[in-house]
Amino acid sequence: MNSDIENIVKTHFANEAVDGIKLTNGRLIITLQKDVADTTKEAAMKEQLLSLADVSKVSVIYTAEKKPTSLKPREEGWVVRNVKKIIAVASGKGGVGKSTTAVNLALALANQGKRVALFDADIYGPSVPTMLGYEGVRALSYDGKTFEPFEYMGIQSMSIGTFIAKDVPLIWRGSKACGAIEQLMTQVNWGEIDIMVIDMPPGTGDIQITLSQKLKLDGAVIVSTPQDIALIDAVKGVNMFKKVDVPILGIIENMSYYLCPKCGTRADIFGHAGAKVAAEEMKVPFLGEIPLHIDIRENADNGTPIVFAEPESRFTAVYEDIAAKVIAELD
Ligand SMILES: Nc1ncnc2c1ncn2[C@@H]1O[C@H](COP(=O)(O)OP(=O)(O)OP(=O)(O)O)[C@@H](O)[C@H]1O
Ligand SMILES: [Mg+2]
Repeated sequence: MNSDIENIVKTHFANEAVDGIKLTNGRLIITLQKDVADTTKEAAMKEQLLSLADVSKVSVIYTAEKKPTSLKPREEGWVVRNVKKIIAVASGKGGVGKSTTAVNLALALANQGKRVALFDADIYGPSVPTMLGYEGVRALSYDGKTFEPFEYMGIQSMSIGTFIAKDVPLIWRGSKACGAIEQLMTQVNWGEIDIMVIDMPPGTGDIQITLSQKLKLDGAVIVSTPQDIALIDAVKGVNMFKKVDVPILGIIENMSYYLCPKCGTRADIFGHAGAKVAAEEMKVPFLGEIPLHIDIRENADNGTPIVFAEPESRFTAVYEDIAAKVIAELD
């Protein structure tokens, strides 16, 4: 099948270097080293490719002009090809909804026209495969060295969970974590990406600091719940990123208040607006409040995040508002 695709591409673009041919779930992406698009040749090639049984969509990306910048190493850090900006979604404390927020934020950024990648670096509890509905699916490799990103719901993604078994002891994961993350991060054939969102491991330890430095993060979003104990850890998170010169894009208060799914009554179970006050005190932006609601939980845990499953929902609107603020902060 792949040789059929390759032959068709080469008949039309014999003189250009073909940088990459990627087929994922019927979606074919061809990358050509060429300055100017040749629409006539492209159309003829697409027609032939679409007649193949396995191909349902074809995109052609021309890369010659962009190549030098894409390949420029991020200063002293890991070389993540094709990715313009990298932001982390982090929390000082575990279980505050970091992954739920990272996944929905990534989808909301994509809804605003950005080309988005989501990278799950949470070695202690990778949950992106579950939340995007591909748990247990192996990452595809054509050459045995590099991996194709998963393409689901309009974003590219990859999870460290695809490569580490759940029963591996935490201490092992910790000691080998950074090497494994670097290897994976730099060996994925990312498409041209505007913003990569990283679901970080919870906490503010050595691994988080090393990751932030090596990834040369363009910004960090801190997720907290309203309880005092979570807020103390959120402050630690902000301080950690400041120490390594990563700009704080803002704080999100997750599970901010409870919304009854039956009657819509609101209850400020854990107190309210603590994160907003903490953000003001630390002079960092406050990005928004996400309520505690069963629709958010069920969709995340069932592999259909709410921003994807219910585009018209009021909760999706909250994530989109946060995404717009993140884009504004990054610009
Ligand atoms: N706003 C919300 N409303 C309802 N449930 C939520 C909300 N945010 C997160 N949850 C649920 O809370 C649980 C924990 O969320 P999540 O896994 O995103 O946290 P986390 O901070 O990534 O945890 P960890 O530190 O273990 O990685 C999940 O079952 C998730 O569906
Ligand atoms: Mg998580």
